[in-house]
Amino acid sequence: MNAREPLLTVHGLTTRFRVRDLTVYAVEGASFSVSAGETVGIVGESGSGKSVTALSIMGMIRWPGQIVGGQVFFHGEDLLRKPESAMRRLRGRFLAMIPQNPLTSLNPVLTVGDHLREVLWVHLGMGAAEANRRAVELLHRVGLPDPEQRMREYPHRLSGGQRQRVMIALAMACGPELLIADEPTTALDVTIQAQILELIDELSREARLATILITHNLGIVAGHCSRVVVMYAGRVVEAGPVDEIFARPRHPYTLGLLRCVPRLTRERTRSFYTIPGSPPIVTEPPRGCPFAPRCAFATPRCQEMTPVLEETGPEHLVACWNPVPAASAEEIMR
Ligand SMILES: Nc1ncnc2c1ncn2[C@@H]1O[C@H](COP(=O)(O)OP(=O)(O)OP(=O)(O)O)[C@@H](O)[C@H]1O
Ligand SMILES: [Mg+2]
Repeated sequence: MNAREPLLTVHGLTTRFRVRDLTVYAVEGASFSVSAGETVGIVGESGSGKSVTALSIMGMIRWPGQIVGGQVFFHGEDLLRKPESAMRRLRGRFLAMIPQNPLTSLNPVLTVGDHLREVLWVHLGMGAAEANRRAVELLHRVGLPDPEQRMREYPHRLSGGQRQRVMIALAMACGPELLIADEPTTALDVTIQAQILELIDELSREARLATILITHNLGIVAGHCSRVVVMYAGRVVEAGPVDEIFARPRHPYTLGLLRCVPRLTRERTRSFYTIPGSPPIVTEPPRGCPFAPRCAFATPRCQEMTPVLEETGPEHLVACWNPVPAASAEEIMR
């Protein structure tokens, strides 16, 4: 593989769910890429399709969900064309995910040690003694105190932060190349959040992982990602280097999101900006820009035609018929 070629390229990913007689258009034509050694953030409000994108990449969409279009290239091969048996071998070995809810992802009747030994045995064929040694090492690496004792513990005995560390140890156990962390810190208090993110950073750096960090916290993106993908109603509406997007957000939705973030430098009297309305659950074939009903800049064209992602600056992509002029965006963000 060419060193500069992305490790993962998602192209036109489209995933839908059948719910009774309705279709939920969860992800519509999402495209982005991630290279080894970089962390890409995916942001967007609840329901914008972040987790469904992650699960689609991992080959974990289950009925009534269906991937109806697109490609997911990993090392140049389309994962969407691989049979489940091949995906099972890749998952946990080369593709790892820290899921959104760590408690339901751990089996309550298995100890921490059982979980770790199993992935080490299944993917790397390790025998009991070697797997035990490696499991203790991993727990130590993710900062769990007294790892030998923790090995014998059941998930419910651990705190939220400890469970999350176990999930990270499991994800890292077989030395993956791609790590997807889906809201890895939402349930945790702020100091533990910072520690967990720090740990993910460190591990990604050490192993030159391609990392996707899913969050709705833009502060986390600013601190931990080099590029960001903004999703709205299942679509990628803006993407680019974090510095560029934070300095010059061109999509009215991104601008709104960023203006919702409290900043210490702003005068106290200024009230926080919120985007009026709420994001839709899309159950009609998408027509026009999904953000148009909430957008202050929408024109009739926005209701009729769906904008596609286009380059507006170096590596800066935006899907909008009336992007905010760069100079105005800069002015607003100053
Ligand atoms: N199993 C499912 N059955 C039906 N609809 C689903 C299912 N899973 C997700 N969806 C729908 O797909 C859309 C995208 O959901 P997704 O979980 O990806 O959102 P998200 O961006 O991860 O949100 P959050 O920030 O709340 O985690 C939503 O409208 C959701 O209701
Ligand atoms: Mg989610």
